[in-house]
Amino acid sequence: MIELSHIEKRFGDSVILKDISLTIPEGTVTALVGPSGGGKSTLLRCINLLEIPTAGTIRIGEVSTTFQPGKKTTWQDIQKIRRQTGMVFQNFQLFPHRTAIENVMEGLTTVLRWPADKARARAVELLTKVGMAHKINAWPSTLSGGQQQRVAIARALAPSPRVLLCDEPTSALDPELAAEVVDVLGKLANEGTTMVMATHDLRLASKIATSVVFLEAGNIVETGPSRTIFGAPQQERTKQFISTLNAGHSYDI
Ligand SMILES: Nc1ncnc2c1ncn2[C@@H]1O[C@H](COP(=O)(O)OP(=O)(O)OP(=O)(O)O)[C@@H](O)[C@H]1O
Ligand SMILES: [Mg+2]
Repeated sequence: MIELSHIEKRFGDSVILKDISLTIPEGTVTALVGPSGGGKSTLLRCINLLEIPTAGTIRIGEVSTTFQPGKKTTWQDIQKIRRQTGMVFQNFQLFPHRTAIENVMEGLTTVLRWPADKARARAVELLTKVGMAHKINAWPSTLSGGQQQRVAIARALAPSPRVLLCDEPTSALDPELAAEVVDVLGKLANEGTTMVMATHDLRLASKIATSVVFLEAGNIVETGPSRTIFGAPQQERTKQFISTLNAGHSYDI
């Protein structure tokens, strides 16, 4: 279970996240949707403490940390939470001078100090799962965007995080390559991987999300099961936004 309680994030005088409370059960997929600048990336970055919330509490499984203005967050507190998470970025962010398998092994050998053969076995298992077993020794620059993203997903999963955080995982990809990534994420969802993802990709959200959170200007406007939010949203603002997402798409939701 991931629990965000009264999370607030300010940058200077701007309040970017306003009193966000969310409960994310294990094994569910939550899609964060909403207009650009609404705070989706900031919320994801607050969950793994790439950004430190100004106030509120984050609980992931058994570990929790409370933030308040003037209270220093220790490195140990940050690591405790961050180690429960894996992050996938829009632009993949693979290490360019490491092969696919080395990218997946890196965190295991350096941070978790696994022996190389154990890390290698785990990396092969994960690269196989994401359909990249045939490219384990490839350099990132020789891979397509979809292939790079699948390696990045394997890397994020390597230390068995409790939650996989994805920030626009398909938006840098052509539709065909995005479909490969959607398939992999769908498979992980079916296996019970807990995920929180920010996305504008209606196909991704409607195919795999259990619930949807509509975020605008740092507030949760509406949240609910994805069928309800996409099919019969309650708030006028959500209806309006969902109709803009639908425009130009022919996905069956
Ligand atoms: N480091 C920062 N310093 C100051 N303001 C920031 C910082 N990071 C984000 N913001 C502001 O926070 C707001 C929310 O940004 P965020 O990137 O979370 O939005 P988003 O919903 O992910 O948007 P998009 O759909 O375009 O990815 C924006 O107004 C942005 O300018
Ligand atoms: Mg964003």
